[in-house]
Amino acid sequence: MNNEYNCWLQERKSQAAIALLPLLNTIFAEEGALPGGGEVAVQAVEEFRRGIKRLLGFSPSVHFSQSAQAGGCGVFLGTVSRLEKIFSLSGQKQAAGGFTIRFRDKQLVIAGQDEPGLLYGVFRFLALLAMDLVHDGLEISDAPVSPLRMINHWDNLDGTIERGYAGPSLFYRNGRFDYDRQRIEDYARLLASVGINRISINNVNVRDEAKLLITEEYLGDVAALAAVFRRFGIKLFLSINFGAPWSLGKLPSADPLAPDVAAWWKERAALIYKYIPDLAGFLVKADSEGEPGPFLYNRTHADGANMLAQAVGPHGGEIIWRCFVYNCQQDWRDHSFDRARAAYDHFMPLDGAFNDNVILQIKFGPYDFQVREPVTPLFGSFSKTRHVMELQITQEYTGHQIDLCYLPWFWEDLMCFDTAQGPASRISELVGPYSGGHSFIEGFAAVVNVGLDRNWTGHTLAQANLYGYGRIAWNPNLTATEIAREWSVLSFGTGPAAERIAAILLKSYPAYEKYNAPFGVCFMVTPGLHYGPNIEGYEYSRWGTYHRADAKAIGIDRTPSGTGYTSQYSAKNAAMFADPASCPENLILFFHRLRYDYKMKNGETLLQNIYDTHFEGYEEAAAMLEQWKSLKDSLEEEVYQAVLSRFERQLANAREWRDQINTYFFRKTGIADKRGRKIYD
Ligand code: GCU
Repeated sequence: MNNEYNCWLQERKSQAAIALLPLLNTIFAEEGALPGGGEVAVQAVEEFRRGIKRLLGFSPSVHFSQSAQAGGCGVFLGTVSRLEKIFSLSGQKQAAGGFTIRFRDKQLVIAGQDEPGLLYGVFRFLALLAMDLVHDGLEISDAPVSPLRMINHWDNLDGTIERGYAGPSLFYRNGRFDYDRQRIEDYARLLASVGINRISINNVNVRDEAKLLITEEYLGDVAALAAVFRRFGIKLFLSINFGAPWSLGKLPSADPLAPDVAAWWKERAALIYKYIPDLAGFLVKADSEGEPGPFLYNRTHADGANMLAQAVGPHGGEIIWRCFVYNCQQDWRDHSFDRARAAYDHFMPLDGAFNDNVILQIKFGPYDFQVREPVTPLFGSFSKTRHVMELQITQEYTGHQIDLCYLPWFWEDLMCFDTAQGPASRISELVGPYSGGHSFIEGFAAVVNVGLDRNWTGHTLAQANLYGYGRIAWNPNLTATEIAREWSVLSFGTGPAAERIAAILLKSYPAYEKYNAPFGVCFMVTPGLHYGPNIEGYEYSRWGTYHRADAKAIGIDRTPSGTGYTSQYSAKNAAMFADPASCPENLILFFHRLRYDYKMKNGETLLQNIYDTHFEGYEEAAAMLEQWKSLKDSLEEEVYQAVLSRFERQLANAREWRDQINTYFFRKTGIADKRGRKIYD
């Protein structure tokens, strides 16, 4: 049974947990005795206790002890440095956050490489227990591949969320911090249970009261929120407005090279760190979509980021600087400009120019979280600058959490992309701790999909996207199928329903992609809102996202004979993308302008493929609805009904997409569907 508030941490009787009962009489834990204060370790022990209760249905009588003995029976929770002296724990030193779980001879040992590692080990053990995967002889060691696993909130202080589809903000209301502390703690627990270790708490577009978060009016509140997350090993970032010295400090400018500006930020950082000594740092959107930045003063992004880095550096802080920088005042009449080139053109020349405590945050693709766009050429190219990949869990372009769209299915594709720059050059192979001279991706940041809705994510099945993000950020080699199965069992139990729900999840992305903009052409959505079709909605606008469909052809030529975007990739990928014969077909309209009679690999024309995919996408959405209906008797009525109504709305949306796209191209070309299906005129 599923209580949607609890997400993947359901209360459910587990036989394996009952079998553990005799061990629970003694829990040896290093409570409060660890270096660094032990707050996270204490929380880990508390999570073990809570988790066991969740899976037993009652609180076992637990006796805590601080002295462990090698031969004793019981549960041993601690850090490797303490426990390895007692138990011969094999293995080399793990990365930060790593852990070992060992269950044999009536001893359960969970040893973290550090305190967060202990916490993650406890959560992993509880997940295994909930999935009935704990058995005598179990021994697992794991560690996060990415050091940085971050959530970005686009929450505004008035309580709205930019691109939020699950109710108002968890943190703010009417210009103030206003939250249910228990709920924030439950949120931190969910995040920590999948390994998240950083969170930015306000929208990257820092406007109105949010500009004041770095003033004493709000810093006490920021500190109080930081305290809740800290126990779960999660540190806060604040999004800041680059223009603050001017707008807040009343200086004549915010020029990063002006000494009074640098001094203003230094002083400000000192004040902020007095309140939150372990603040992770600042997240910055500069010179983008109207936000101020160094370009205003003819300075580079390195000038801007480094100046801030010097302000937070003495306090151990970092600057995360976004590469989402492009000209959003384009003229659709001008074919010479290509927005897809922007991030690389702006940032590649600056590789190596950033301070050590600057991390660039790069959207996965050159556009903007589209349903299908290529991996940006910056990955694999940067070798002297720390950087992370930015994903979007909130479903801005993927159905607003009305439509089901299981994102790990697409993220797996991204992780498999081979940048073809040197050996081991797939994205998943590039993820790891940064060491100068290598193009390592230090981790991930993602715009989150939660709000005050009771089920957190609006669509209950969209919880799988939050879960999946955490898992992929932890280990980018995990597959979408593995994650879907894990999530479904944790959320819906070990019965047959879980397998069927996982199967629905895995069909959802391809279905959504089929009824959306065809073959990587992007941006056929309703302007502003970004839900539902509007095929020419962005065609004559300033945003630089055109498809230029006419009666004969569609798409932008991004090869060297066009905008030259393909040349930003490694030679191998540039050649692969530049030739329609080798370009992956799901991206063919991103890279090429093609006639509608272009023959695709299945022998059909491009136009016929557009018709076919749109009929299929609708049929697949209809099939998902039917599959959901067949689960009626296995599910909690409330969850069943809520998800059912979303599937019904999704079907209406899929119908609009199918018919508007097909009619659009039919009207342009006058060519009918060769299979004679209904296309409206
Ligand atoms: C998209 C999105 C905006 C957001 C921006 C960003 O353009 O529509 O709402 O501010 O991305 O990533 O900064």
